[in-house]
Amino acid sequence: MTDRTAGLNHGLTDYGDRDFSRYLRRSFAQSMGYSRDMLSKPVIGIAYTGSDFNNCHRHFPELLAAVKRGVLAAGALPLEFPTISLGEVFLTPTSLKYRNLMAMDTEEMIRAQPMDAVVLMGGCDKTVPAQLMGAISADRPAVMLLAGPMMTGRHRGERLGACTDCRRFWARYRAGDIDADEISAVEGQLAVTAGTCAVMGTASTMACLVEALGMCLPGTAAIPAVHADRLRAAEASGVAAVKLIGSKLTPARLINEKSVENALRVLLALGGSTNAVIHLTAIAGRAGVKVSLERLNALSDATPVLVNLKPVGNGYMEDFCAAGGMGALLRELKPLLHLDCLTVTGETLGERLEHDAGQDAGQDAGFVDRTIIAPFDKPLEGEGGLVALFGNLAPKGAILKRSAADAKLFEHEGRAVVFASLGDLAARMDDPALEVEAADILVLQNAGPHSAACMPEAGYLPIPKKLAQRGIKDMIRISDARMSGTAFGTIVLHVTPDAASGGPLGLVRNGDRIRLSVKNRRIELLVDDAELKKRAAAAPAQTEIPDRGYGKLFAEHILGADEGCDFRFLMSR
Ligand code: FES
Repeated sequence: MTDRTAGLNHGLTDYGDRDFSRYLRRSFAQSMGYSRDMLSKPVIGIAYTGSDFNNCHRHFPELLAAVKRGVLAAGALPLEFPTISLGEVFLTPTSLKYRNLMAMDTEEMIRAQPMDAVVLMGGCDKTVPAQLMGAISADRPAVMLLAGPMMTGRHRGERLGACTDCRRFWARYRAGDIDADEISAVEGQLAVTAGTCAVMGTASTMACLVEALGMCLPGTAAIPAVHADRLRAAEASGVAAVKLIGSKLTPARLINEKSVENALRVLLALGGSTNAVIHLTAIAGRAGVKVSLERLNALSDATPVLVNLKPVGNGYMEDFCAAGGMGALLRELKPLLHLDCLTVTGETLGERLEHDAGQDAGQDAGFVDRTIIAPFDKPLEGEGGLVALFGNLAPKGAILKRSAADAKLFEHEGRAVVFASLGDLAARMDDPALEVEAADILVLQNAGPHSAACMPEAGYLPIPKKLAQRGIKDMIRISDARMSGTAFGTIVLHVTPDAASGGPLGLVRNGDRIRLSVKNRRIELLVDDAELKKRAAAAPAQTEIPDRGYGKLFAEHILGADEGCDFRFLMSR
């Protein structure tokens, strides 16, 4: 190896004698059976997140082999390394708690180990933001390889995909519309292949935003997990990582104010997951870019919804890929995008869109299925799918996915029915004695980032059973929690500051009146300030701090949703 600071010579272990360190590292590396010739090549690290606790990454062994093939063919040495993997449904209390831990793991392992560039293999909800956050902070050239979405299953002739259909069938089961045998049959058909949830949930949204940010190869975000094109994308990602060696195209350079704004445009045009607002805020924060909810509203007013996928539309991710995928969507949005943003290939976004015209991986040149990707001048909706709300109930903002909500409830005043915690919600929601009517507003407190629950996806409060059995399908629900990107309903989320950190949400009492106005972007608690002050003095909010470990670190440093729920000490200064 000629360059004594590259490849395996990066960041030597400190023994006080650098030549000894090199000699020892080579010696131990040779114990893995590599020739000296191989060990003299540049090194591509592969952040590997296969795990038996992550069904969405089930196919990662096969993808890993393809990445390594690409790296070897391009003349470098591929070395995989494990990091934490976050399988969404296998974690308690919620995967968000561990996103920052995974980001720290990814950052530190990229920085501590000898690699010239890195391929980040992620997919399931929090893995992608965690990897991007870590890679930005590590500031080593990086390319993302996404897991790709699952294919759909079938039940009695109907297509099913996790997890919009999970919720739809569960709501029918709760309402007594289908029986235990049928829900059991559905359970076996919701998640039928490797890959991430099949709809435009958080994982799919984040994958599309990664492509909008220029951090993965063009056209690769939506390729189904089990499609041969996904393996070709893996091989090409390995090649791309080798090309990045020595380049200044690090994630911290690619992710800037303009590319973040492009990603926000894409999020709005997708009618994407509310979770993505938190993750994009955290990703941008690592690069020193502030995502403001006021700016989100301004962009939302001027960005049409173009993609017709569940939960807001009809299709699934495999349809989006076949319809033209991200290339087709970006071409529609072209007039709104900053085309001078660089991408991981070294091209600008504008150059990519200029020449690819439908020739992304697996795409039929120029073909766009207009039932899935609407033209810019004939959008599905004229305004973006997400809107931020402000008011005395949410001084630092809240989020509503209006594209997944019932417009009849957009201008509404109602009586609050309050649940003080997730435990209270579980205990009383289906109580026949619960005093609740369809016009009421359900409020869940203490499920935000500062609560012991760590902001789970509990904002999709179920319709109380007695109302569900009367056929009520939607009502206004407000909380400081998050909601799965696969869910739908008139649901106000991420109320900030959260109840556990002393936010006004914690001061709402049963019977208070609340007014929602989507038109005015307002969410108001119709209780006067003097009364709210009295309530705050009578029951001051208390954050519980665990006495040790990551739980303590999390509770002491977690920031609000308006700052992406990152830790201050990890953000860019
Ligand atoms: Fe992994 Fe939905 S559970 S993406």
